[in-house]
This record gives sequence, structure tokens and C-alpha cells, in this order.
Amino acid sequence: MSTEPISQFDTTKEATKQKDVMRVENLTYTYPEAPKPSLHTIDLPIRRNKITALIGPSGCGKSTLLRAMNRIHDLYPGNRYEGRILLANPEDTKMEDILELKKENDLIRLRQRVGMIFQKPTPFPMTIFENVAYGLKLSGMKNKSDIEERVVTALQGSAIWNETKDRLHESAMGLSGGQQQRLCIARAVALKPEVLLFDEPTSALDPISTGAIEELIAELKKEVSIAIVTHNMQQASRLSDYTAFMYIGDLIEYNKTSKIFLNPDQKLTEDYITGRFG
Ligand SMILES: Nc1ncnc2c1ncn2[C@@H]1O[C@H](COP(=O)(O)OP(=O)(O)OP(=O)(O)O)[C@@H](O)[C@H]1O
Ligand SMILES: [Mg+2]
Repeated sequence: MSTEPISQFDTTKEATKQKDVMRVENLTYTYPEAPKPSLHTIDLPIRRNKITALIGPSGCGKSTLLRAMNRIHDLYPGNRYEGRILLANPEDTKMEDILELKKENDLIRLRQRVGMIFQKPTPFPMTIFENVAYGLKLSGMKNKSDIEERVVTALQGSAIWNETKDRLHESAMGLSGGQQQRLCIARAVALKPEVLLFDEPTSALDPISTGAIEELIAELKKEVSIAIVTHNMQQASRLSDYTAFMYIGDLIEYNKTSKIFLNPDQKLTEDYITGRFG
């Protein structure tokens, strides 16, 4: 636990807030029926209102780690977790171990608090409005005007409002890939998450759409804490505050992004970011 003050001008309440919103501690993870773990004793903090990039060659466990962080693996039974994944309680400074959650409702709530955006945009086959309203209704919101307000705010906050405001009741499948991805971000944002996990969110997009998503992610960190998996080294260095380098299920090095890219401690990290392998 860090004792570093956030700012000398912070109110007492703010100053005592932990700077980690999540903390992966000593995590070893094994897929159902896999002979050996895909992640070994991983330690990783997710800093509040910062962007943490996960980088490393294909198959090193980036997606596996991200998917552990909102227990989405548990949609399939038989996973084995050892260690802890702590998530800060928004009301106080205590952290809870999300690996202790057992009830289906608690896991659904967890995935609202720790939202996920995938490589391929995954809009539901329904209208643009309903895509965003769906999760709100599922979480128990009933009042129509409250739902409308939250949908509009989420679309505005996800830089997709201008392109959708005149076609809210048309199918989301008619949007471009980049627009669909921003809609998926709006869908997660509407639930007021504390953390957003992005797994290669722009690798299926053209450079213009990629730029729009990057701008949006940079804007979103004012409200939420972010972890992003990317194969694009420019993207990691442009966008992130902290970077973790993974290799064959191990976390090799974690530090401020500038340090990782300019002067990493490990030779393996240097070889990877300079393109010598992977
Ligand atoms: N459902 C699964 N069952 C068993 N093993 C799996 C499963 N999914 C992934 N793995 C294994 O876990 C390891 C890590 O895979 P993961 O998908 O996390 O890698 P990654 O770093 O995200 O790779 P990429 O950059 O290609 O997306 C790999 O060895 C992979 O074969
Ligand atoms: Mg992956």
C-alpha cells in the first residue's frame, strides 16, 4: 500500500484515497484442463485515472490476464486462480479480492464495474439506443427518462453522439467498424465503470478510426482507470502512463512508460520494444 500523497492540495478524503484502483497479486492462472498455468505469479498495479499498457509477443498471456481482471474466464467452468486480484471499493479505501466472489449476481456486477472492450466490435443486433440501454435495464434501471439521459450522456462521452443522434433507432449493425467500437465503449461507459479493460481495441480499425479511439481513451481516463493490451508500440508509448511487458506467462518488467521505452531494466524488454523478436 502506497503512502505517497496524491497532491498537497487534496482534501483529506482525496489524499487518503489509494492510488491503485486494482492490484493483481501473485496471480497464477490455469485454463480448464490445461496441463500447466498460462500466468505465473503475476504482480501488477492498475493506477487510478491512469492508462496501463500490457505488451508482449503473441501467446504471452496478455488477454488471459485482462480476462482474469473481470473474471470473464468464469463464463466457462473449471478455471484455477491462485493469488489475489484486489479491487478498490468506491465508497472507502478498502480493497476486496474479486477472486472471492462466487454468486452469479456479484460477477455480473463486477463486470459492470470492470468493463471490457474487445478487438472485434461486438454490438448487439438491436438499435443503437437499445445497445446502450440494454445493460442499464439489466442493472435494474426502470425510469424511461433516466435511461434516455444515461444513453445520451454515454454516447456523447464516447465521441459517437454526432454520428448517431439522428439514427438512434436504427440497427447498430449499420455503423462502420470504428463507430461500432465507440458504441461498444459507450455501452460500457453507461454503466459508470471504475475500470475499463481494452484488448487490442484498434487492431481491426483503419488509422483514422484508430486515432479517434485513442483520443477517446485518453479522454476517458479522467473518469475511469484503464488497462489496454496492444501490439502497437507507438500506441503504447503515445497513450499509456505505465507499461507492463509480459513474456510466456511471466510479467518481466513494469514501470512508467517512458522508462520502459527509453531505458528498460531487462534485456528481454529492450529486445522486444526494439523489434528484435516477437
Ligand atoms: N481457452 C484456452 N484454453 C487453454 N489455453 C488457452 C486458452 N486461451 C489461451 N490459452 C493459452 O494461454 C496462453 C496465453 O494466451 P493469450 O491469449 O492470453 O495470449 P496473448 O498474449 O493475448 O496473445 P495474442 O497477442 O496473440 O492475443 C497461450 O499459451 C494460449 O495457448
Ligand atoms: Mg490476446
